[in-house]
Order: sequence, then C-alpha cells, then structure tokens
Amino acid sequence: MSEFRIAPDLLGLEGAVAVVTGGGAGVGRGCALQLARAGCHVAVVDVNAEAGERTAAEIRALGRRAIFLAVDVRRREAVQSMVTDVIAALGGLDVLVANVGHPLHIGPVLDLGEEQWDEVFALDLKTTLFCAQAAAVSMVEREVRGRIVTVSSSSGITGAPGIAAYGAAKAGVIHLTKTLALELAPYGIRVNCVVPGTHLTEAMRATLEGGGPMADYIRAAGKAMPLGRLGEPPETGGVAVFLASNLSAYMTGHAVISDGGITHTTNRPPVASTQTPRALAHVSRLQGGS
Ligand SMILES: NC(=O)c1ccc[n+]([C@@H]2O[C@H](COP(=O)([O-])OP(=O)(O)OC[C@H]3O[C@@H](n4cnc5c(N)ncnc54)[C@H](O)[C@@H]3O)[C@@H](O)[C@H]2O)c1
Repeated sequence: MSEFRIAPDLLGLEGAVAVVTGGGAGVGRGCALQLARAGCHVAVVDVNAEAGERTAAEIRALGRRAIFLAVDVRRREAVQSMVTDVIAALGGLDVLVANVGHPLHIGPVLDLGEEQWDEVFALDLKTTLFCAQAAAVSMVEREVRGRIVTVSSSSGITGAPGIAAYGAAKAGVIHLTKTLALELAPYGIRVNCVVPGTHLTEAMRATLEGGGPMADYIRAAGKAMPLGRLGEPPETGGVAVFLASNLSAYMTGHAVISDGGITHTTNRPPVASTQTPRALAHVSRLQGGS
C-alpha cells in the first residue's frame, strides 16, 4: 500500500482546477467557495451572468484564480466547449461538480404532463450525463485522475410527493453515478454523489420572505429536520470538497447524504399538496363520482 500522508496537503486540492455548474447561487455557490478555500482554482458555470460573475469575484478575493463561463448545460455542444474553455483558461480540469438541477414543476402526479417530465429529466439528469461525459473524456485524454461529484437530492432517496419527476430524475443521478464510477475506475477517475436535503439557498430565503404555500413548506421542512434547521450551502459544499479530495481516495460510486438526518425519519413534509381540485376530480371520477 502506498503511504497515505495527511500533512502537509491534507486534501490534495492545492492548485487543482474545479468546474462547478450552477455555481452562481445556492448549493453550487457553496461548493465553488468551499473548493476555493480548499485550494482549487474554479470555473463557475451558470446561465445567470450576474450571479456567476459574483461567485467568481468572491473566489478571486480568496486568492484563487476564477473564471465565469455562461453556459446552458442542457446543450451538449456548449458543455463540450465549456471543458475546452476551462482548460484553456485555467490550465487543466481535475474536479467537476455537476450541480445544476431544479424541481421545475410542482404538483400532483395525476396532473404531470409528458413535456414537464421531459423538462425535469433534461435539467436534472441529462445535464449530469453531458457534464460528466465531457469532463471524463478530457480527463482520460489528459491522463488525469480526476474526480466527478454529481448532485442528487433527498427526494431521490425517499418518495417525493408533489415532485415525482424530480424525485425520479434525482434517483437516476445516484444510479448514473454508480455506473460512471465503475466505467471510469480503470482510468483512476472517481465519481461520487452529494445528496442534499432542503437547503437555505438565496432563492429559498426569498421564498420564505415572500410567504405563501412554499414558504410554509420551507418552514415545516426546517422544523422536521432532526438537526432542527435547514442546511446551509457551504455545509454541503464541504461534502463536495471531501469527495473531490484525497480524504475520499478509496471511495467511488457512493452517494453521501447531507440532509440533517431527515431521510431517517417519516417527518418529511410534502413539497406541495397533491390534493389540488384537478387531482381530486380525477380521484372522484375513478371512484365513480361525477
Ligand atoms: N436547495 C435545496 O434545498 C436542494 C435540495 C436538494 C437538492 N438540491 C440540488 O442542488 C442543486 C442546486 O440546487 P439549488 O437549490 O442550489 O439551486 P439554485 O436555483 O439556488 O441555483 C441554481 C443555479 O444554477 C443555475 N442554472 C440553472 N439552470 C442552468 C443551466 N441550464 N445551465 C447552467 N446553469 C444553470 C442558476 O442560474 C443558479 O445560479 C440542484 O441539483 C438541486 O436539485 C437542492
């Protein structure tokens, strides 16, 4: 067995180049900032230029190199160019955090349309494939023992009332992670998944302030957590750092849950009521009502 040194570079990330998709806000921003604190230079990828540039500036203020790239990671050619652009600007690509995703459509499965299903899968699962594939091809070509971190959700572990497509897509992210890990292991590339529970992102804070049913959900979700509060993006960013670092050198294909303990309970509130008038009408018809 080769010697495993804890010091002086505990994490092995000093000077590594990381790409974080959706790094302008939320969990992605948390991952980008924590990777920078751990020693990485970071390419922040986002469709929101203002947010992406802001994160890149925060990383430069930490003393690391950072660029912002405006890329819609749903577009495969754009993702391939993203990899080329990162290597040209920062001199490599060692770590990918494929973070982009969103529930998009909230409502009962009885009302879920095919287009909505496809949109969620395009954003939450296909983007993970596009980014992981493009990064892995480049890592193999450059003989880099890279690390890929995918981002799922606790909704991909437990049932996900009100967000059926999202839950299924996020379960798909965990499974894709396992297959990627096995196929890429011979190249020394490790692939693991971070599984966040509900987090207090900038968007969640704004929703809380705005009130309404989603604000009620966020409050209920916070109370339901065994740790008594919602997650903070830098906390789950820390898990991404761990999975990108030497500390997890013998881990691949695993999903690490960062959820305040909620998936061990039955307390999890549904994201939305599934008892909408349209859903109830369906049920009534099925049961022989008018
Ligand atoms: N926030 C939570 O409570 C929570 C819980 C579980 C899982 N997650 C997962 O964490 C990840 C991040 O979620 P979040 O809540 O932090 O998101 P967010 O909406 O707060 O931020 C997402 C960022 O991604 C960018 N983005 C959106 N679509 C993009 C695209 N097509 N290409 C490039 N950039 C794009 C947005 O502009 C934004 O800056 C997602 O995969 C989500 O499913 C979040």
